[in-house]
Amino acid sequence: MTHQLYDFGMIGLGVMGRNFLLNVADDGFAALGTDINEDSVKALNEEGEGMNVKGVHTQKEFVSLLSTPRKIMLLVPAGKIVDKVIEGLLPLLDDGDIIIDGGNSHYDDTNRRYEYLKEKNIRFLGTGVSGGAEGARRGPSIMPGGDRSAWEVVKPILETVAAKVDGDPCVTYIGESSSGHYVKMVHNGIEYGLMQLIAEAYDVLKRVGGMSNDDMSALFDKWNKGRLNSYLIEITADILKQRDEEMDGHLLDVILDKAKQKGTGKWTSQTAMDLGVPVPTIDAAVTMRGISAFKEFRQDMSKLYKAVHPEEGVLKGEGLAKSVEESLYFSFIICYAQGMHLLAEASEELNYNLDLEGVARIWRGGCIIRAKLLEQIRGSFSNHPKLKNMISTRQFRDELHSCRESVVEIMHLTNERGISTMCMSSALQYFEAFRSDRLPLNMVQAQRDYFGSHTYERIDQKGTFHTQWDK
Ligand code: 6PG
Repeated sequence: MTHQLYDFGMIGLGVMGRNFLLNVADDGFAALGTDINEDSVKALNEEGEGMNVKGVHTQKEFVSLLSTPRKIMLLVPAGKIVDKVIEGLLPLLDDGDIIIDGGNSHYDDTNRRYEYLKEKNIRFLGTGVSGGAEGARRGPSIMPGGDRSAWEVVKPILETVAAKVDGDPCVTYIGESSSGHYVKMVHNGIEYGLMQLIAEAYDVLKRVGGMSNDDMSALFDKWNKGRLNSYLIEITADILKQRDEEMDGHLLDVILDKAKQKGTGKWTSQTAMDLGVPVPTIDAAVTMRGISAFKEFRQDMSKLYKAVHPEEGVLKGEGLAKSVEESLYFSFIICYAQGMHLLAEASEELNYNLDLEGVARIWRGGCIIRAKLLEQIRGSFSNHPKLKNMISTRQFRDELHSCRESVVEIMHLTNERGISTMCMSSALQYFEAFRSDRLPLNMVQAQRDYFGSHTYERIDQKGTFHTQWDK
């Protein structure tokens, strides 16, 4: 008896895995899935009824039903589970089969798995997949890195299932080893930054402008039709108008202000620190999630310290909305600039040989940070292939210049009122520091030399100097 063989396999049939597989099947490929959770297998078989998709219960059956070279994606929680699934698969696979890890794995783990599987003649692609459950179903942005020959094999499938922008698929081969997961991690770092910036803009409109959720929703909707057009601005408009099912009011108002995190933003900050690349807006976003977690302490401190009562009161009107829009646009540019700068430096340090224009191109659709701005970012990296920090381009220079005054105004208003805008202020400070020909770090060098003989350089002579400072 001959069985139908399937083109593409998925291990991990949670909502992401199931949706991705249904997307593969929609596009005409025979799709097969498995999961240790019986209910997830059942859900796939129900949702995929009438489609060329099937869920099976054992890995043995799963592997036997895939055409070779087998193309197996894992969408399981990052960490030890990935290693466990790989170990279970190995005895069942043949030389040249392909494993695609589609989770948010740490790039160090991906490097290790890539080398380990190479020794076993299994081709490995550490692959970032962005777009959440909806993206997985309708077309995500996909960032595969690792074995290039494996990419060539899976390319027709991934190009078909990926989101499209003007017909251009939001997937490209990112580079060697862990580059795909590294790029996805930085995507998430930028995601953290944009989300926190939007949260701060919402806070300013609410507490300085006294705006209602419905009015803010309409405003975000309007912004989404302009240069801020992006997935995160779009969903913010939806979130602001959502009513609560339990009580009369908006759902947002009853959501606890403690943000959770799975680690990708923190990893972005950690690697940026390791590589010496400043990404303060991403750092601030991670820090704010950390501060938010100390809810009880914050409640105590809010009693201990007197609230700031500005005499100015609420500022109504168009002016504030315009300034917040400009501040958000300014900060969005800075947040992307930091992420792209990190990728540019990592590309050299970690030998990824990244095509940054390609990265910006595949982020234009499908992923959480998709935005109109990415078309301009793509253009900048296409015009200047050696570009590292996009704030140096004429185009972004003009935009940052024209928005700066508004950010200063918003910082003034929030500082006066005791409203924390750590992320937005970090964007402004990053800009001010980078456009400073002279920073006060001569003082830091002097202090280092004073207490530790760490030496310093001079602006008027070459060489390294040390002084016996007068005590
Ligand atoms: C995506 C998202 C996705 C996930 C985040 C959430 O691109 O689709 O980034 O990967 O929703 O990792 O991360 P936190 O739980 O850390 O906010």
